[in-house]
Amino acid sequence: MAELAYVNGVFGPIAEATVSVEDRGLQFGDGVYEVLMAFGGRSFLLKQHMQRLRKSTAAIRIEYDFDKNPLEPIIEEGLRRSGFSETMVYVQLTRGVAPRSHEFPKDVTPTIIMTFRPLPILPDELRQRGARLMTTLDTRWARCSVKAITLLPNVLAKNEAFRRGYDDALFVTAEGEVRECTSSNLFIAKDGKLTIPPRTDSILHGVTQGVLLECSEAIGLPVTEGAFDVPTICAADEVFVSGTAVDVLGVTSVDDKPIADGRVGPVTRRLYDKFMKLSRGRTCVGG
Ligand SMILES: Cc1ncc(COP(=O)(O)O)c(C=O)c1O
Repeated sequence: MAELAYVNGVFGPIAEATVSVEDRGLQFGDGVYEVLMAFGGRSFLLKQHMQRLRKSTAAIRIEYDFDKNPLEPIIEEGLRRSGFSETMVYVQLTRGVAPRSHEFPKDVTPTIIMTFRPLPILPDELRQRGARLMTTLDTRWARCSVKAITLLPNVLAKNEAFRRGYDDALFVTAEGEVRECTSSNLFIAKDGKLTIPPRTDSILHGVTQGVLLECSEAIGLPVTEGAFDVPTICAADEVFVSGTAVDVLGVTSVDDKPIADGRVGPVTRRLYDKFMKLSRGRTCVGG
């Protein structure tokens, strides 16, 4: 078992993997990415992640022929070679290598980068107590539905949250509309119903979120999309976030105001258990 990288056709140790200094991913953040999980060497929700990668790639007009050069066999090979029981796969596609110029280069070959690492486990303490969020102004671009590698606002917001003792930051617009966290989507539960922010270009349409929408309907929890503000969150029965890195994680306070009794609630636990069964095929009671 070994942490592994893949760059343009070559597998090798991560420490030895390199890209050109002229790669547009490095020069401009000109690329898109996906993060997905695999269990027992089998990738989870691969189809959904690849669909979103295709959309992101098309949105920024990177020309890559996914039908002729599919990424799925490379991912499978990487999983086989790395050999972890639970793997976090990172896939990045940049516009490629060219002398630095804002203009799209002609005849450029996109760079494909992947890494295969053991899946990080969220501390149990955090899962039990739920996340404490701070709000922050959403200074990101207007096309957050594109999973672009250009993540500086997210990186700064997350680190500001950590610096101030919170677990994550929640992006809120100048008009007070709640969007999402730095790497997860937000759900609120009130009176037996779930609400999520509208799935417009202003947020990433999470793969985990998509699965939870189906699970929720299946267990009789209707979900609606609708704009809401921070006071609405604070008046909710439960709040949770979803994402590949957190699965389903309860949120127990926003800007130090507790949500309900300040504990992870039953809807969150139920959806977490359902998601764990789907992804890992096992029950994780009390999550
Ligand atoms: C800004 C943002 N929102 C939501 C998500 C959750 O998406 P997914 O469930 O596809 O991991 C992510 C994941 O990285 C993200 O970066």
